[in-house]
This record gives sequence, structure tokens and C-alpha cells, in this order.
Amino acid sequence: MSTFNINNIPSQKGKIIIVTGSNIGLGYETALELAKKEATVIMACRNMDKAKAAKNKILASVPNANMMTMKLDLGDLASVKNFSENFLEKYDKLDILINNAGIMIPPYQLTKDGFESQFGVNHLGHFYLTGLLLDRVNATPDSRIVVLSSVAHVPGRINFDDLQSKEKYSAVKAYQQSKLANIMFAFELQRRLEKAGHQTIAVAAHPGVSNTNLGRHVPRILYYILLPLLSFMIHSPNVAAMPTLLAALDDDVKGGEYFGPTGKREMKGPAGRAKIASHAKDTEVARRLWEVSEELTGIKYLN
Ligand SMILES: NC(=O)c1ccc[n+]([C@@H]2O[C@H](COP(=O)([O-])OP(=O)(O)OC[C@H]3O[C@@H](n4cnc5c(N)ncnc54)[C@H](OP(=O)(O)O)[C@@H]3O)[C@@H](O)[C@H]2O)c1
Repeated sequence: MSTFNINNIPSQKGKIIIVTGSNIGLGYETALELAKKEATVIMACRNMDKAKAAKNKILASVPNANMMTMKLDLGDLASVKNFSENFLEKYDKLDILINNAGIMIPPYQLTKDGFESQFGVNHLGHFYLTGLLLDRVNATPDSRIVVLSSVAHVPGRINFDDLQSKEKYSAVKAYQQSKLANIMFAFELQRRLEKAGHQTIAVAAHPGVSNTNLGRHVPRILYYILLPLLSFMIHSPNVAAMPTLLAALDDDVKGGEYFGPTGKREMKGPAGRAKIASHAKDTEVARRLWEVSEELTGIKYLN
């Protein structure tokens, strides 16, 4: 694969692309670049005021941008269903679904449906969203689903004995579990798409490390000590969004691949292929996770 350069990506005019959590951070940068490429971008966000402000900011730099804001709260399955219904009513195709939104190490809290919030928002909400939109994606030629993971998937484990951290909550372990769930979901989705004979591909990406709002729950004292130490090892959100854009737009991408920054410890650097922890390729765990996710969200697909 040659070095990814967003400037070499042709116009995406006519493509319909959903980016979840695109009012800020990496999702915003992803939406901005897609707007520059003339795609129609659906900014799927939980707070409409923030979404509209982000859309206006993009329009200020890309006046002809084709942006649409739509409400999506991944911590509420009814909201995910509502979003999907609205989308399916308005658009007759979906070229690229980018499952970007996420939260990291919040205090223990539950989603509307009673799921531990990181597992619920980062994984289950996106699992449900993908299932609801899948027929439309599959009906669109050359379509893709991109799932955001993290280097945090490496120490992650899927704790089937206490998936929802009911017995014990470690904010960090729950985040790692959710990011492992993200990458395993992408790979299992690819296997199932392929088995069913669909041309849609599923891929995963991670941004390395970037100072976004994701760190909002990091204890302030730690944050202010770590940030200056880390500042030369991390990259800005517009660069950190490149692995996602590679996964979404590069012609050489194949289903089941994983992209991230190629610098030291994959914290920053040019976007390229990233390392996958061996346990993230465990097909038995991925199958079980899929089945549990179906049970919890009540949607079944690609069986
Ligand atoms: N930044 C990093 O260093 C890093 C590293 C590895 C992986 N990642 C992954 O990259 C993705 C984007 O993170 P980021 O760094 O851009 O974080 P961010 O700046 O905090 O942005 C996260 C986005 O997700 C949205 N979101 C949160 N909960 C949601 C919900 N219930 N429903 C819908 N949207 C929701 C946020 O909306 P609000 O603005 O309304 O909160 C925001 O738009 C995440 O999946 C994260 O795990 C980031």
C-alpha cells in the first residue's frame, strides 16, 4: 500500500456518508475532510445544538459542503432506531458508515437501556445502528463500514462473566473491552458479509493518540501532568483522523483490514496498516460477542 495522502483522493461527489459523533474531535475532522471531497455527510450527533454549530463551522470553510445534521444518541436504542428510520426515509443509499463516536473512562453509569455506558455507547449502540442500516449499505455498490478502535484493544479482554461491569467497575478495563469489542465486531462483520456473498466491506481504524474531548474524564491533575509529557508523542485531531479516512476512501483497502498511525507505538505518524492483537482475531470470542450483542439489542443480522 502506497503512503496515504488525502490530497490524492478524488472527489466523493454523490456519496452518502454517515459519521457518528462528528460535532467535535476526530469525527468533526473526518466530516470536514469528507465535505472538502464533496461527499454528502450526515453528521449523526447526540446534541443538535453542537451538531449545528459544527456544521456551520464546516460551512464557513467549505461553503458548498453538503452537510446534514441528524440526532443520534448511541446510549439509547430508541434514538438509534429513530435515527435509522429517518435516514432510511430520506436516503436511498448509504456508501460509507463510519462508527466513530465514543466515550472513555466515565464514572460508572448506565445507558437508557441499562448497559454499562462504554460497552453500550461504543459497541452496542453501533452494533444496533449497523444492523438497522445494513440492507441499505449492502444495496449500495462499493460500500464500506468503518469501525473506530484503539491501541487500547490490545490489553482489552471481553469479560463474558461480567460484560456490563455489574460486579466490579474499572473504567479503564471497560474502555479497553469496548475498543476490543469494536475491532472484533468489524472483523466478524467482514466474515459474515463475505459468507453471505455481499460486496460491502467492513474495516477498522484507530487514530493513535490525540488531545480531543475524549480525555474529559481523565483526572485533571493527571491530565495536566501527562499532556506536556505526551505532547510531542501525539498528533493533532486533523492528522489523527487520517487512518479513518484511509479506511473509508482508499481504493486499496480490503475487508477485515485495520489502519492506524505508523509511527512509534502507533501513537502518531502517517496512516497505514496497524497491528492487530492476536486475541482480537479469535473467531470464537467474536462469534459469542456477536450473539450476546444480538440478545442485548434485540436485532439479529447476517446469521
Ligand atoms: N482521541 C484519541 O486519542 C483516541 C484514541 C483512540 C481511539 N479513539 C476513538 O476515536 C473515536 C472518536 O474519539 P474523539 O477522540 O474524537 O473523542 P471526542 O472528541 O470526545 O468525540 C467523541 C464524539 O462522540 C460523541 N458521542 C459520545 N457519546 C455519544 C452518544 N451517546 N451518542 C452519540 N454520540 C456520542 C461525542 O458527542 P458529544 O460532543 O455530545 O459528547 C463526540 O461527538 C472514539 O471512538 C474513540 O474511542 C480516540
